[in-house]
Amino acid sequence: MPEFLETAFTFRWLEGAYWFLKLETFTRDVMNKKSVRTVNFAERIKAKLPALLVLAVVVGGAWVMINEATKTSGPEAKVAVKVPAFSAVGQQGAIAYAANCAACHGANGSGGDGGPPLVHKIYNPGHHADGAFFLALQRGVSQHHWRFGNMPPQPQVSAGDTKAIIAYVRELQTANGIGYQPHRMQ
Ligand code: HEC
Repeated sequence: MPEFLETAFTFRWLEGAYWFLKLETFTRDVMNKKSVRTVNFAERIKAKLPALLVLAVVVGGAWVMINEATKTSGPEAKVAVKVPAFSAVGQQGAIAYAANCAACHGANGSGGDGGPPLVHKIYNPGHHADGAFFLALQRGVSQHHWRFGNMPPQPQVSAGDTKAIIAYVRELQTANGIGYQPHRMQ
C-alpha cells in the first residue's frame, strides 16, 4: 500500500472517527438535553460504522488530493545547493554521480529536468536510508513523490560506486542542513 494511504488510513481514520463521535455525542446531548454517557459505547460504534467508513473514505481522499497537489516536477522542484569539500569517497561518488545521475538529478543533486533534487528533506537518511539508493539503482523507481515519471534501473553502476554516490549525497545533504529525521510523512 502506498505510504500516504497507509498514513491516511491509520492516523487520519482514527482522528476522523474520534471527532465524528465527539460531534455526534455533543449533538445528541444538546438535542436530548441529557447525558448520553450511559449509552453503550460499543453499540454506538457499531451503529455508526457505515457513516464512519464514508468519513474515512472522504478524509482519506482529501488527504490523497492534498498529497498529489504538493507534487512538482521540472524547474520548480530545483533547489540551491551549497557544495562542501568532499571526503575521498565523496569525491569518488561525485565522479560516478556526474556520469550516471546528474543528467536527471541535476548538478550536485540540485534537481534537473528528468529527476528530483536528492538534496531534499524527503531523501534524508530517516526516510530514504542507504538501502533505498541500492534498490533504486537495482530496480528503478516508479513515480510516487514527484511528477518526473519513473526512474529506470541503473545496472551499470557498481556496488562500490553506489556506496560512493551515497556518501557523496549524504555529504551534500549534511552541508545543506539535511540530517536524519525519523520517518513520518514525506
Ligand atoms: C532518467 C532519469 C534518472 C536517472 C538517470 C537517475 N534517476 Fe534517480 N530518480 C529519477 C526520478 C524521476 C525519481 C523520482 C521518482 C518519484 O519519487 O516520483 C528518482 C528517484 C531516485 C531516488 C529515490 C528512490 C525512492 O525510493 O524514492 C534515489 C535514491 C535516486 N533516484 C538515486 C539516483 C542515483 C544515485 C542515480 C545515479 C546512479 C539516479 N538516481 C539516476 C530519475 C532518474
